[in-house]
Amino acid sequence: MQYTFQATLNAAAADTDCVVVGVYKDGVLSGAAKQLDDSSQGKIKDFIALGDFSGEKDTSQLQYDLPGVKARRVLLVGLGDKATMTQEILAQATLNAAQQLKTRKVDHVTSFLTDECSAEYRAAAVRQAVQAVAQALYDFSAYKSKKDENPPTLQSWMVAHTDAGDLSKEVAQGVAISAGMSLCKDLGNTPGNVCTPSYLAETAQQLADISDKVTLEVLEESDMEALGMGAFMSVSKGSTQPGKMLIVQYNGGNKGDAPVALVGKGITFDTGGISLKPGAKMDEMKYDMCGAASVLGSLKAAIEMDLPLNLVAIVAAAENMPAGNASKPGDIVTTMSGLTVEILNTDAEGRLVLCDALTYAEKFKPAAVIDVATLTGAAIVALGHHTSALLSNDDYLAQEVLAAGSVANDEAWQLPLGEKYKEQLKSNFADMANIGGPPAGTVTAACFLSYFTENMKWAHLDIAGTAWDGGAKKGATGRPVPLLTQFLLNRAYPA
Ligand code: BES
Ligand code: MN
Ligand code: ZN
Repeated sequence: MQYTFQATLNAAAADTDCVVVGVYKDGVLSGAAKQLDDSSQGKIKDFIALGDFSGEKDTSQLQYDLPGVKARRVLLVGLGDKATMTQEILAQATLNAAQQLKTRKVDHVTSFLTDECSAEYRAAAVRQAVQAVAQALYDFSAYKSKKDENPPTLQSWMVAHTDAGDLSKEVAQGVAISAGMSLCKDLGNTPGNVCTPSYLAETAQQLADISDKVTLEVLEESDMEALGMGAFMSVSKGSTQPGKMLIVQYNGGNKGDAPVALVGKGITFDTGGISLKPGAKMDEMKYDMCGAASVLGSLKAAIEMDLPLNLVAIVAAAENMPAGNASKPGDIVTTMSGLTVEILNTDAEGRLVLCDALTYAEKFKPAAVIDVATLTGAAIVALGHHTSALLSNDDYLAQEVLAAGSVANDEAWQLPLGEKYKEQLKSNFADMANIGGPPAGTVTAACFLSYFTENMKWAHLDIAGTAWDGGAKKGATGRPVPLLTQFLLNRAYPA
């Protein structure tokens, strides 16, 4: 797929298989729709007057051979009320358009949808338009024996404006972010018998091979034993798949500049361990490495965007299995930091692998560290499937992460951290327990991690509700790659 940009184009003159323009509720025309209406002597307005199509959100109408319009197809896409149109509606409109057009014999599309965005938000809207098209074209059929009989013919998508500045860099960024999201989705969707810690290590190696600015270091279990990562090992030891800690460094900034550290939970399958999970929907625990996948996806996007900053991605990759040599409730382990943990529930394994990864991250003296994890079912109870949970020990960093999510249309919402919640982690026998009981499970999980990040500016994203869709649409979402890459863009190019 080719993505291109045109800053000033009349919709009627676009030389393409299909022109896509927005129409608001009650037949209010977008700028580009107005151009088509003018060139066709009012055909668009005439059509809308018929009443078949009213510009409501999530509706669209294809038209053919409008007089005075060069393209043979015109797709009118509803944008709802003009006064309440948002970035999200615009991105959704592009997704709808791409989903429809990909099933037709359309090779080249010119879309004017982002022309409706105010100048302030255009850069983000253009990136998101590319991401929406990529999402419509995303396909994960590697494990189906029969190939799609009518694969999409789409070859190019032009993001066009009637009158705008040059946003071709934003198109390229959208392509890079989409590539990161696709990697994230692929890793998430790949089954647990294939996507093991070793598979994640191979993926990291492929990223390191893209550019000489990227290096990979793999800590094997013997290395982690030597480093005293007793918490990580307590999870990994019950699996026949060797656990790995992956450290991928991207040096796009000045030598010596403090890096941003991204730390991902990479449990390639979470059975719960001896505290075994119930069977229903347990297959979805193949997605328990989506934090790691989003970190690797964001790294890929950063490399492709050639961002001028230093980045270190740390992936804590292990499989959580019940076994004769698995950890048992009541076991006490010593973390790399020296703190001891009583494992009261082996299903609270994410924090155990992350705490040692976070301690390891400290050695890079990061400017900020963000860990990303499908950490708690409680995050779904609190926020459902639309919003990731954010917890942080630094208010400025928290605002930065929230703002990035908001611009990127990949929302997070902050939950509190605090001494009071820490009391729930008290253990009679060790420095802390690995669970804090039913109340505020997302908060106490983050409190646990906060013991290991005291010397860093740290934010934690619990993506249990947002990393994948269940049910009929089961599949990884690619989140929070948009949020993370926006955060990196903001750091790389401060306003
Ligand atoms: N990976 C799960 C969290 C999870 C569950 C994410 C369901 C998405 C959907 C995590 O390892 C886990 O099992 N957490 C436990 C913690 C509890 C034992 C304190 C949970 O949330 O039940
Ligand atoms: Mn678990
Ligand atoms: Zn888990």
